[in-house]
Parts: sequence; structure tokens; C-alpha cells
Amino acid sequence: MPKRFTVTSALPYANGPVHIGHLAGVYIPADIYVRFLRRQGHDVLFVGGSDEHGIPVTIRAKKEGTTPQGIVDKYHELIKNTFSDLNITFDVYDRTSASHHHKNAADFFLNLYQKNIFEVEETEQYYDEEAGEFLADRYIVGECPTCGNPDAYGDQCEKCGSTLSPRELINPKSALSGNIPVLRATKNWSLPLNQYEEFLRSWILEGHQNDWKSNVLGQVKSWLDDGLKPRAMTRDLDWGVAVPLDEAAGKVLYVWFDAPIGYISATKKWAEENQKDWKPYWQDPNTQLIHFIGKDNIVFHCVIFPVMLKAHGEFILPQHVPANEFLNLENDKISTSRNHAVWAHEYVQDFPGKQDVLRYVLTANMPENKDNNFTWKDFQTKNNSELVGILGNFFNRVMVLTEKYHDGIVPEPEFFDEIQNLNAYPERIGKFLGKFEFRNALMEFMNLARFGNQFLQVQEPWKKIKTEPEKVSGIMNAALQIAAMIAQTAEPFLPVAAGKMLEMLNLEQKSWQDLEENSNQISVGHLLGKTELLFDKIEDEDIEKQLNKLQETKRKNLMTNPNATPQKPECTYEEFQKMDIRVGTILEAKKVEKADKLLELKVDTGIDVRTIVSGIAEHFSIDELPGRKCTVLVNLAPRKIRGVESHGMLLFTEQPNGKFTFVNPEDETENGCQIA
Ligand code: MF3
Ligand code: ZN
Repeated sequence: MPKRFTVTSALPYANGPVHIGHLAGVYIPADIYVRFLRRQGHDVLFVGGSDEHGIPVTIRAKKEGTTPQGIVDKYHELIKNTFSDLNITFDVYDRTSASHHHKNAADFFLNLYQKNIFEVEETEQYYDEEAGEFLADRYIVGECPTCGNPDAYGDQCEKCGSTLSPRELINPKSALSGNIPVLRATKNWSLPLNQYEEFLRSWILEGHQNDWKSNVLGQVKSWLDDGLKPRAMTRDLDWGVAVPLDEAAGKVLYVWFDAPIGYISATKKWAEENQKDWKPYWQDPNTQLIHFIGKDNIVFHCVIFPVMLKAHGEFILPQHVPANEFLNLENDKISTSRNHAVWAHEYVQDFPGKQDVLRYVLTANMPENKDNNFTWKDFQTKNNSELVGILGNFFNRVMVLTEKYHDGIVPEPEFFDEIQNLNAYPERIGKFLGKFEFRNALMEFMNLARFGNQFLQVQEPWKKIKTEPEKVSGIMNAALQIAAMIAQTAEPFLPVAAGKMLEMLNLEQKSWQDLEENSNQISVGHLLGKTELLFDKIEDEDIEKQLNKLQETKRKNLMTNPNATPQKPECTYEEFQKMDIRVGTILEAKKVEKADKLLELKVDTGIDVRTIVSGIAEHFSIDELPGRKCTVLVNLAPRKIRGVESHGMLLFTEQPNGKFTFVNPEDETENGCQIA
């Protein structure tokens, strides 16, 4: 019986691109899951979109000297295109800055307001009198009460990691103006989460103790055990959905209030564009609502949003929230601020046509129950030995051998016990997918290819064609059944390769039920299509490029002067030792004729008095030079510059403003002393 599913994936903040951690945690599992549901014939709506409100957007806009709308326009486009490049099959990809969402979110708020759900909360908040704004926690900086870091933020100290509230900061300052903020009374509307503890306990901890993931249940339990507090759903801010109350001028909805309503707004938009009714997708108790998210979103999708839905009263609650943990990169936390990440849009550029490879590797390493790790070496190995070595190799052999022995036509079968139950594979894959065990499902899929390789290895049709040619048809028919089952089950994981495999076998895609019922997926006399390449090897140099890119970022993060020129290629100790550098004194200076930049200097090097031509005429006047100490490379081979023979070189450093400065020992030093 087909069922209705509303599948959401966390709306990424449109203040930066998405990286492989987002993909592995949310978008790839969600896409595998919805592809699988569609193959079962269910009515599926896969919702995505951009989360475009919140403080980080305004901070980013200030930094880049543009407007918040400018920021979200840019990243909404980029992220949307990246998802489509990676074959994530959203039915709708909306955005929360759209006016239809503003209206929808405001209406939702009003609905709760009219039901008297909110508590009014009068507080004193920091206010910047010069900017004329209440200050979001991030916009207040001051000294951390825990570690003394002078640059702690009002919500967190990034040095010691402690969570703060603005009132705890010592000597707080506004990040907008640098002024000392004043406390000003304000009023906000908060959701009394504490009144819903019993509801949450019985719905999740009792109702879903057996079917929700333990990492999700664990977090929910710990929130509930700590006791829930009312949480403000409006903020004094000007970027967001305006609070639809006369007395709330200058206030917007809390970003975590409006963003999940974005799922509903997107559904309404989709329904309108496709002449459908949105309501069953959110209000029919037979619909299964499923939220794909990362672990940092658990409280919002298992506590706050459900409380909002429950308080409203007309909505269903999520059936599953299969949250994933985090993915690390090269054994280090992915970090946007340190730029330690593999950005999805850069991957698409660096590895054109290899979207399936990334999907494969991220699924195989999916952080389902604990944090997991991505390394470029492992990426290469999984591609070369699994996708090329196992899957591609088997498929290619079957195609080539069928072409060779049977002119590309599926030959007569013969009984092979091990081929009778091929349908057990889609059954097992489906069971795992149904439980959100994506790694196990992928493993089971690859076992089919492993089985195919073993079958050929044991049967050796390339030998039997000479010794027992009558047996080859049966063997090749069996191998083709395995290949067909691979082609049919690949799509949720490897959509591009699946399309190619079906084309090679000249088959239509079947429903998942069909696969579970029929081990025979290709019939005698069927003509195959053309053989093409499925996967190709990834070379060491492609991997090194990526590793260098990460290395380069690490180096840049350590640079205190980002304008400094890159280091020169290395020189040996012996090469350095060849240079004889000494302290000297300039005795005389005069202009070199017809050369604007050059001065001819007489320099006492302690071992002699010599002539040196130096390109410093634009930086020093000839009067200020005589008597000045300097540092000289004395054994530089002499050369003629504008007719004057120069015996050495003076050392200077150039400052960012272009000014030259002498490089000299700190203390008074005699001429002729060596620098080493
Ligand atoms: N933007 C949030 C994040 O990246 C996710 C929002 S999910 C939704 O963590 F519920 F708000 F839609
Ligand atoms: Zn601190």
C-alpha cells in the first residue's frame, strides 16, 4: 500500500557554502531515502531550502560590506546549484526570505498568540545608543569571566569554549560602534517549553524508545532531565520575519521559530505550483513526517518545533528524526572559520563527473551513530578498489564477455543454486534503508558485486569456452542476472552509474517490490546496449592536490601577515653559508647619472672601503645617508650597473606601504662583524 511521506532536510544557512559534513550528515542520506521511497511507489515530498535569517547572515553582510539580502541571494543560488549538481532530488527548494514564507511564519505566530500560548518576558538587554539597536549576543564583546580572554562574545568565549550570556562579560562593548552598551528594558514573547515536558516524555521517550536512534533519544532525554525553560521566540533585531503585532515594532521572529516553518511554506509553494493540496502532507495523521538533520539540530526538531506544532494543534508530529553525528576531515574537526573543509561546490569542479564517487564514499563513512572521518586517501582507495575494482570490474566483464560469446544477447539459463535468491539482496538493502542504516545498505549492495566477481572467478567462462563451451551460456545468463540486480538496486546510492548500467543492459527501471519478488531481472534473447565506462581510477596526483589545498589553508591560518609573499624554494645550509654578510657604515652617497632609482655609495665594510650601487634613491635622500650603519652582502660577485662597478649589496626590508627600512643589528656593532 503506497503511503504518503513528507521528508525534510535541514535548511542550510545561506551565509556560506555547504561542505562534505553537511552532505554526509543530512543531504545524501535524505536523498537515498527518498529515492528508495519513490521506488516503492510511495507518495513522497522531499523538501529543502535556504535558512536565510539569523545573526550570522547580518555579521557576514557587515564583513563583506553588503546587505543581508545580498548575502543570502548569493549563497542560496550557490547551494541550490550544488545540490542539483550532486543529484539531490528535492521536489521543492525554497527560501525563508521569500514573502510567502514571511506571511506563513507570521500567521503561525499569530495562531499561537491568539491561543495565548506565549508568555511575555520583560528583560533588560544591552542596547547600543549610537547604532540605535538592541545588541544580539554575538554583537557584544568583552572579557571572558572564566579565562580572561579580552575578545569573548556575548554568547560564547571561543578561547575557552564556555557558554556565556552577555551580562557575564566584563567590560562589555558593542561590536557595532565600540561603545559601552546600556541596559534597556525590552519585551519578548517566549514559548513555555517547560509546560510540554510530559508531552515530550511520553511521545518520544516512551512512544519512540524502540524506533528512534539512540543518539537522538540520548540528547532528548538529557534535555528533559535538565529541565526545559521558556525560550524567547522573538528578538530585537531588524533582519528576519517581522513580529506581526503592533506593540512589537523593531522585532523579528527568532530564527529557529521561522526556519522550520519554512518546511511548511515550501510545501505550500510546491502545492500551488503543482495544483496539489498541501494539507495532507502536514495534517493527515497517515502521513509520515521525517526530518533529516545533523546532531546540532536535535533540540530544535525534537523539542521546539514539535512543541510549536503541538501548540498549534492542526499538525502531525515527526515520525522519525534520523539525526546523524558529525564528519571529521583528515582526523580534524571540519571548521568553516578555519576553512578546514571540502566544499561541495569545489568538489564538483575539481572532480567533474564524479558525483557518485563522493556519494559512495560519504555513505560508506556516514556518521550514523558516532562521529566519523573522511580522508582523501580513503576516498581514493574506495574509488579505486571498490567502485573501479569490484563494481566496475564485474559489470564490465559481464558486458564484454556477453558481447564476445553471445553477440550481446542474453543466452539460455542453466540452474545455479546461488542465483535463485538474488531477490534477497534488495530485500536486505530495503530493510536497512527502512531503518536508516545507510552504511549497512550500501555494504549489502556492494556484496552483490562481490558475489558477482566470485561467481565469475569460480566459473571461469573464459576457460570453459575452450574446454566445455556448452556451459558458457548458463554461466553468462547467471552473471547477467547479477548485473541486472546491481543495475536495479544502485539508483538510491549511485544514481548516475545506475542510469548508465540500465542503459548498458538496455533495461527499464523496476519498482523495488518487483526486485524483491523476482530474482530474474533480464530475459533470454534480450539485446544489450553499448558498453561504457562506469568508474575510472583516481590518480595520486589528484589526491595530493587536495591534500596540498588543505595544507595551504592550515599554513594561511597560521600566517599573521596574510599579505606576506610566499616562501621561496628551499636552499641548503651550504648555500646559505656561502654568503658573507657584514656590518658596515655608509661614508658617501651620490646619484647615478640618468638613473632615477640608483645611488652610488662608498661603504666601510670593516675589511675595506668599496663602491656599492643600490636602488634606494626614491627612499632616502643623499644627505641623510652618510654615517648610517648598514648590513652588506660583501661577497656578491661584482657587476656593472649603469657603468659603475658595484661590489656587494645592502640589505633592506620593504614595508607594506612601500617604505624601505635598513636591516641592522639591534645593538651598536663594529664594522666588519659577520652576520651568521
Ligand atoms: N540552518 C540550520 C543549520 O544549518 C538548520 C535549520 S533547519 C530548519 O543548522 F528547521 F530550520 F529548517
Ligand atoms: Zn574564556
